[in-house]
Amino acid sequence: MIIVGCSNSKHLAKSIAKKLNFSYQDLNLDIAPDGELHVRFDDDLKDKSVVLVQSFYPHPNHSLMELLFAASTARDLGARKVILVAPYLAYLKEDKRVIKGECVSTRVVSELLSKNFDAVVTVEPHLHDSQLFTIPIYNVDISELLKDYIKKNFKDAVIIGADNESSKLVNRISFNSIILDKKRKDAFNVSLKGNYNLPEGKEVLIVDDIISTGSSMIEAIKFLKLKKVNCLAVHGVFIGGALRELEKYANKIITTNTISNESSEIDVSNLIAKKLLEIKL
Ligand code: R5P
Repeated sequence: MIIVGCSNSKHLAKSIAKKLNFSYQDLNLDIAPDGELHVRFDDDLKDKSVVLVQSFYPHPNHSLMELLFAASTARDLGARKVILVAPYLAYLKEDKRVIKGECVSTRVVSELLSKNFDAVVTVEPHLHDSQLFTIPIYNVDISELLKDYIKKNFKDAVIIGADNESSKLVNRISFNSIILDKKRKDAFNVSLKGNYNLPEGKEVLIVDDIISTGSSMIEAIKFLKLKKVNCLAVHGVFIGGALRELEKYANKIITTNTISNESSEIDVSNLIAKKLLEIKL
């Protein structure tokens, strides 16, 4: 097996390869003056299982195109199997047509990935219907890792799930968490409703799968009038100045390194490496 680091995830890919003691190569990528991508592999891929590691942030569209070129080239060069490790997989939120005439982007992206890869490994995806993929899609469950982190760092904190979607993860981490009733108004605004009984003076940890604009976290902190609050998410997208803005409200912001940034304190490479060993390649 050979692990290939694509543009967003070279560091993570190297760490996975090291843990497995597998060979590693960078995917060479050039961008032509007109914006076209040019990808190239250095080493021989003939009869090898090739694992492309690429999170879909930043530049999700570019990341996808890079992967499609790389997967097709790997097959062309004789790879036995081509596996995608997408620690953060994008385009999973629009899996139904809500507005007349709109694209169901989850379906399009899952079709493209299914045609070009033999399997996908991802971490806590925002995926409601895995049937959209016609290839195996494996989730790396990081709830035990998060539990350990919380035990070490926020032992007595009250755990709050930022919304109903977060409950899938939060309920695996804690038995007595509080799940907020959130409604999204638009990409940058959410509203909350409900009465929540929070024990006074206790430290609070708000948990979500993704922090994107930061509005879900900030609105929760404002709505609950929280003081000693920390934020934990799997995927730290942090659009624009979202991290700086959230820092004005929270003591500590922690994410995993599915997307690498200054908050990505929790390393998922070990669990991804384990998953690659578990599945038959
Ligand atoms: C939505 O259902 C997700 O679970 C997250 O709550 C959402 O992606 C967070 O986005 P933002 O940081 O923009 O509020």
